[in-house]
This record gives sequence, structure tokens and C-alpha cells, in this order.
Amino acid sequence: MKIISLCLCALMMPLLLVAQQVKSPNGNVVVSFSLVDNGVPTYQVSYKGKPVIKQSRLGLELTPSNNDGIKPEDTNLMNGFKVSNTETSSFKEVWKPVWGETSSILNHYNEMAVSLTQEHPNRTIIVRFRVYNDGMGLRYEFPRQSNLGYFIIKDEHTQFAMAGDHTAWWLPGDYDTQEYETVTSKLSEIRSKMKAAVTDNTSQTTFSETGVQTSLQMKSSDGLYINLHEAACVNYPTMHLNLDDKNMVFESWLTPDAQGNKAYMQAPRTTPWRTLIVSDDARDMLSSNLILNLNEPCQYDDTSWIKPVKYCGVWWEMIVGRKSWSYTDEFPAVEIGVTDFSKAKPNGRHGATTAEVKRYIDFAAKNGLDQVLVEGWNIGWEDWFGHSKFKVFDFQTPYPDFDIKALNEYAHSKGVKLMMHHETSASVMNYERYMEDAYKLMNKYGYNSVKSGYVGNIIPRGEHHYGQVMNNHYLHAVTEAAKHKIMVNAHEATRPTGLCRTYPNLIGNESARGTEYEAFGGSNPDHTVILPFTRLQGGPMDYTPGIFETQLKNWSSNQSYVHTTLAGQLALYLVMYSPLQMAADLPEHYEKYNDAFQFIKDVAVDWDDSKYIEAEPGDYITVARKAKGTDNWFIGGKCDENGHKAVIKLDFLDKGKTYECTIYSDAADADYEKNPKAYSIIRKQVKRGDVLKINEARGGGFGVSLLVKK
Ligand code: NOJ
Ligand code: CA
Repeated sequence: MKIISLCLCALMMPLLLVAQQVKSPNGNVVVSFSLVDNGVPTYQVSYKGKPVIKQSRLGLELTPSNNDGIKPEDTNLMNGFKVSNTETSSFKEVWKPVWGETSSILNHYNEMAVSLTQEHPNRTIIVRFRVYNDGMGLRYEFPRQSNLGYFIIKDEHTQFAMAGDHTAWWLPGDYDTQEYETVTSKLSEIRSKMKAAVTDNTSQTTFSETGVQTSLQMKSSDGLYINLHEAACVNYPTMHLNLDDKNMVFESWLTPDAQGNKAYMQAPRTTPWRTLIVSDDARDMLSSNLILNLNEPCQYDDTSWIKPVKYCGVWWEMIVGRKSWSYTDEFPAVEIGVTDFSKAKPNGRHGATTAEVKRYIDFAAKNGLDQVLVEGWNIGWEDWFGHSKFKVFDFQTPYPDFDIKALNEYAHSKGVKLMMHHETSASVMNYERYMEDAYKLMNKYGYNSVKSGYVGNIIPRGEHHYGQVMNNHYLHAVTEAAKHKIMVNAHEATRPTGLCRTYPNLIGNESARGTEYEAFGGSNPDHTVILPFTRLQGGPMDYTPGIFETQLKNWSSNQSYVHTTLAGQLALYLVMYSPLQMAADLPEHYEKYNDAFQFIKDVAVDWDDSKYIEAEPGDYITVARKAKGTDNWFIGGKCDENGHKAVIKLDFLDKGKTYECTIYSDAADADYEKNPKAYSIIRKQVKRGDVLKINEARGGGFGVSLLVKK
């Protein structure tokens, strides 16, 4: 259904004076647009009559450019506008994601597109608003026109004026990393807490004492949950938010390129959507599909090759420090095509050996896991990091002790696939040079997924992980992979903005502190009850859960520990939604706790339905999900350092069916610090309407499987 009604020119003059409004289908969200003062575009948003975004300015500033015909006096797209046209319409459809939390998604909004025209020079931009029951998106559009063809955006000045000093769950704004611990504070406290929040990272560029990243989750003192992010960030830099903390006004802050410019544009073009999700119920923030809905439909005709993946891998032992990615310690430096690895002495710690990979393949086959990730299989790891080296890897040449042909054949004979690893060391031009051959090699041996990575400062030097050039690169890697029927899971790339709807072979990203940080000193116990409100708004995270030996010193010299209980790790397969889930611990650790591992074996990675049962940012999340194509349900509950008592009414189960219910929960004396591995497993039969009450320990959680009794 698509209804378009045009407000004709005759109506235009009065429209200049009054605000123009567009409401959500249920009327709860109201967006008003008006021009003020000297033709400055502004908008405001309310939810159930409460102000959410107070009157806020819209606009952009251009870089003068002789080549593009933009004179210094023509750089302002901030004021001097008149409304030259307004169009409103409604849209309602149900679409089916290739994978997801639910098998179908309602996309229902009312839209208003306001054309704004300046006279000297004559230029028109459009501000388009889409208003949903759970929020809204707005973007700038630049139609084809003679006075605005090519142009460079110096700054985008989209403001988000907050209605109060909200509580915020924020990360320091940074052009290169999101791998920070979330800070929970009032908006007015961001400035004083910023310095301590900026912990060391391999590549980082902060920009302001009040600059934060999106997705930014907030809560007002009267109980409104407010989330700011962006959708469909294509051919544009990633947006941060800078806070004017006297007035509680955020303004967009785009990631610059090496010259300080933000975005190179050619009309017709649009910016990404700037998104607001709002509700008085925290669960709505998690079930919102607003960001996916603001992305374009799937671009691929055939998606039959895109499959959710449960995997294990030769990985955690390297992260913890017991094994190495590199093959030898003999060379202080290596050169692709010159260094002869066949004569090098192995260091004895290399993880990706043929024998070790076989052991993982056997483990995956025995336990029904789809894939085995192998890192450190290819030459170049001896000096891959810290030297701003251009030609680091060729993504094609295995170390002498990794038999790529035999291992793939062995895996395939057991119904398992290997997962490719492309660490680029952020040398992006080098990666693009080899990309086609690297994907061809994957096709040759039967790999269908790649984990890529961008550790370190970007080459070309001066560019940032979240700039326009890099955002184009990440998408290029995904669309080129699609030509080879390859799925992509990119680490250290920009944080997602829902592009997985359009390009569903983007099955995962990192772009936040993953489980690896539990080996680098740990993440706070509330980390995974914040991420679903923030990082996961734009798309799934390859969080790599499932660590059972939470005290790393029990089996390595690493003194860190995982800041959850063992049962809490099980919860992450539900709470941290992803079509790509790792069983990240070592096979021998799973064998030791085989009864708890049963949950990881059973849990699905693709869903027909999801019900958020309880949620509060930073405190707890409880979610039930129905496994795709079955009548089976799984429930996960995770909490912070304070523990939680989950109450789950099983009113979503099918009437008349009996379910075999297995509850994997924290034992009464469990505690993420003192007694992390104390868990209990209870089995019983349940039916619709029954209630489960489950205690979660400090830093704990639980997993429940509900399998229909045949
Ligand atoms: C960082 C990634 O997050 C991690 O998973 C990977 O093992 C290393 N880079 C090496 O590529
Ligand atoms: Ca990382």
C-alpha cells in the first residue's frame, strides 16, 4: 500500500509560517518541521505528548571548491531556505529477512519530504522524515540540479536537542574504534568522565571532551528510553555526536578524511538516515526494526547460499596467549614472495597446524557445529602489526604446516566447512589488490565465509576506520564477496547501520569489545546487557561467547578472567542476537562440562520469532526465541553484577503442546568472581501458561531449551 498526497504550491505560503507535522501510524510519535529566523530548517519530536527532541537545527556546510563550482560564499546549506514543496505519504509492507530475530518484519511509516530552496545560488535539498510507531528517521537528499552537482561536505550540522539531563550509556567518540567500556552517566557528566573512559587501543582518534559514539542509548528521568543512531550509512562517513552540555544539544560530528573533509558527494545522492528510537518500555528498544526498515531491500536475487553459522575455531588459545598466529620466531621481519618459510624453524607454538585443525574439525563434526575458523594459517604474521607495513599478507599462501587442500577435504568429508581468515592489518590497498584472488582461492577450496579484520592504523595513512573511504571499502568487500557466494564477518570495521538487510551476506561485525577483552583484563559484567541496546541496534555482533573455563589462569599464564558465570555465557547465545555464533572455548573445556555444552549444541542461530520478556539497559535482559522452521523455543537471561530474578510466563508456547524444558542456570552459590562455574541443570515438562522463575547470580544468567515433546 502506498498513498502519496501532494501539498500543492498554492498552500505553500501559509506553510512557511506554521509547523508541518507528520505522525506515526498510531499517533504516538509526532515530528514537526518549521523554518525559523532567516530560513533555518528545524524539527522537533514528541512521544505520547512528551518532548523527545526539542526544536533542533538541520543543515550542512560545504567546502569551497573551484572544480565543483562551490564559491566560498556558497558553502552554506544552513539558512536562507524557503519551503518549495512538501509531500506526505504512507507506507506499509511486511518483508522477510534472509535471517533474523523474526521471520517477517512490518515496515509501517508515515513520511514527509520537505523541499527547501535557496535563491542565490538556486539550490534545492530535501529533508525526508519517516515516522514509525517506535521512532523516526530523517535524511538529507540532494536531487540532480545545475548548482549542486559535485560537492564536498565540510560538516553536517544536524542537531538533537535533548529534553533533559538524561542517563546515557556512552562510548567515547573515536574515528577508529568502538572497543571501549561503556560509561553510564548523566549527560552532564560526560565531560568529567571522558578522560578515564578513553583506554588504550591499537588505533584510536578521539575528538572532543563531549564527543560520543552512536548507537547512543539514553533514559529520561520520567522513564522514556531514547536511542540515537543512523541507518544505511553508504558512501558517507560514520556519524558521531558532540554534546553542547550547557544546553544538552547533540550535533552530528562526521569522521573526517586525511584532509579534514567529511564526504565527497555527487547529486543525486542522499545522506544516511539519522535515527531515533523511543518508547516508555525498554523491551521495545530491543525488538525495534526501525534501523533495518530504513535500509533498502535485499540487493541479491539468489540468497540460498547465505546460511547462519555456528562455529568453533583455532582462536581463543592465541588470544589468551598460549599459542601464536605466527609460524616462526626466526625472522625479525618477513617479506611476501621473498622470505622462504619452508626453511624456517617452527616456533612450536603455532596454532593453525594441520593436526590441531583436524582436532577442531573432529570436534565440530561430533557436536553439529557448521564451521571451524582458522586464524594464523597464512604467511605474514611474524611482523604483521605495529610497523605501518604496506604488504603484510597475500591472503593466499599457507604456512608449511597448514595443508589447505587436505584440511578442506577432510572437513567437507565430515560435513564441516573451514572459515577463512583475512587479517588485513588495516593495509587496505594491499587487501584490495589481493581480494579477488583471495576470494577465488576460497571458492577453489570450498570456503563460504570469511572473518576479516582491520587491526591498526589505516593505510592509506591518515584515513580513519570510520571515514567515507573505509566505509566504501567495507561494503566493496561485502559485495565482491557476494559475487563469490561468500559471507563476511568484518572485525574492527565501522559499526553497522542495518546494511545487512540490503547485503545479507554481511552476517557479522565486531565493532565493540568482544569476548577477546576478557583475556585483555576483562569487560564489566553489565557489558552484554548494554550492547543489545547500543551496538546491536545496527546489526549482529560476532561476540564469540561460550567460555566455560572462565579463570584463564587455570590453563594458561593469562591472569584475566571472564566477567560472567558459566551459565551467563550460555545466555549470550540468545541475548546477543547473531546469525553467527561461536563456541569460542577449547574442545577440551567443553568436554569437561559436556552437560552444559549440550545447550550450545542445541541452541538455534536463526529464528521465526523473538519475545523480549524483561529488559533494562545495564541491568538485565530476558528473551525467548522460536527456532526457525521448528516449534522449539530457547530462552536466555543475562544480568549485571547485581544478579536478577527472572520471571517468565510461558504464554508464547503453542496451546496443547508439551515441551521438554531444560534449565541451565547458576547454582545458588554461583558468583562471577568467587564461584563462576557453579551451575545446575534441571529438566521438567512444561506447557503454555506455566511460569519459570530463575535466579541469576552476580554476573550470571541462564539458558533454557524448550523442545516439543513428540
Ligand atoms: C582482532 C580480532 O577481533 C580478533 O578476533 C582476531 O583474532 C585478531 N584481530 C587477529 O586478527
Ligand atoms: Ca577486535
